[in-house]
Amino acid sequence: MRAVIEVDKLKKVFQSIVAVDGISFEVKEGEIFGFLGPNGAGKSTTIKILCTLLRPTSGRALLAGFDVVREPDTVRRSIGIVFQENSLDDRLTAAENLYLHGLLYGLPRRLLKQRMEEVLEMVDLAARQKDLVRNFSGGMRRRLEIARGLLHHPRILFLDEPTIGLDPQTRKAIWEYIHGLRREKNITIFMTTHYMEEAENCDRIAIIDHGRIQALDTPANLKQRLGGDVLIVTPADGADLAPLIAARYGLEPQPVEEGLRLQVADGAAFILQLAADFRGRIKSISLRRPTLDDVFLSLTGRAIREEKVSAADRMHLSPRGHLRRRH
Ligand SMILES: Nc1ncnc2c1ncn2[C@@H]1O[C@H](COP(=O)(O)OP(=O)(O)OP(=O)(O)O)[C@@H](O)[C@H]1O
Ligand SMILES: [Mg+2]
Repeated sequence: MRAVIEVDKLKKVFQSIVAVDGISFEVKEGEIFGFLGPNGAGKSTTIKILCTLLRPTSGRALLAGFDVVREPDTVRRSIGIVFQENSLDDRLTAAENLYLHGLLYGLPRRLLKQRMEEVLEMVDLAARQKDLVRNFSGGMRRRLEIARGLLHHPRILFLDEPTIGLDPQTRKAIWEYIHGLRREKNITIFMTTHYMEEAENCDRIAIIDHGRIQALDTPANLKQRLGGDVLIVTPADGADLAPLIAARYGLEPQPVEEGLRLQVADGAAFILQLAADFRGRIKSISLRRPTLDDVFLSLTGRAIREEKVSAADRMHLSPRGHLRRRH
């Protein structure tokens, strides 16, 4: 498969800030490709360069074979974009927002009407098209923005934090649209996120931090590279067990919200050992498979965001040191 996005040593410097620090990657036709990284990593800056809204300081980017700096008009016709910030006009209806966009793209009136029906249907907003956007919920706005990004049938759709601030149900619905789009129209999707669950929707992910790509692979491969299990140990009475655990097992416990995070080859066996060795000094131990957040942590030494362990995964120690599952 050929690449529809080709990026070579791309760099963007704002005064003294190096926002994008010489990144190179390719995205294939029909791929869902994601940038996963924390605030300020350079995700939006990269998108803005690829969408011709910002000039790179150096390096090169080609979209559908066209150079973003030398052929911006041709590039713009091949792409659709959903910005991180709300960019709808609140005072207009959903249909009027779409219509305006179609005019800007020079779509003939009749074709525009037809496309509007098509995209409104797709994001399930046909019945609300005459309503003012001011009265839309966050999820409806986001769906409308995605519809607008698709109005001119772009080959590549850019989504900057497509589901930020939305509830899990709406997030899921939006992802169903995106997967459907790819299936039906073989559209290429380039997205950014700092939600690791969202990154799981991508065929490949680039983990980006401080403007640099730290790793690039499928979500499964990234996690597999870590191997083993992750344990979260919550000490009883706030004791600092990190140095003791480090000395005893030669591990490097990392402080997290709930206590200490350990990475071990065989989690189940290690829990028993730990429970026996530190009887009475541990409040709880949870076991799980590595997530993309763990991948990020092992690459950068920091978490993208605080880890949340579900209650069902959390193993609790009874006062006598026996393991039991909390419900
Ligand atoms: N126009 C600008 N002028 C100066 N600095 C900027 C500008 N735009 C971005 N930056 C800086 O570049 C860095 C990268 O910003 P960017 O918006 O690309 O991050 P991001 O990965 O999208 O973060 P977030 O997850 O918060 O959206 C930040 O340090 C930011 O302050
Ligand atoms: Mg951003």
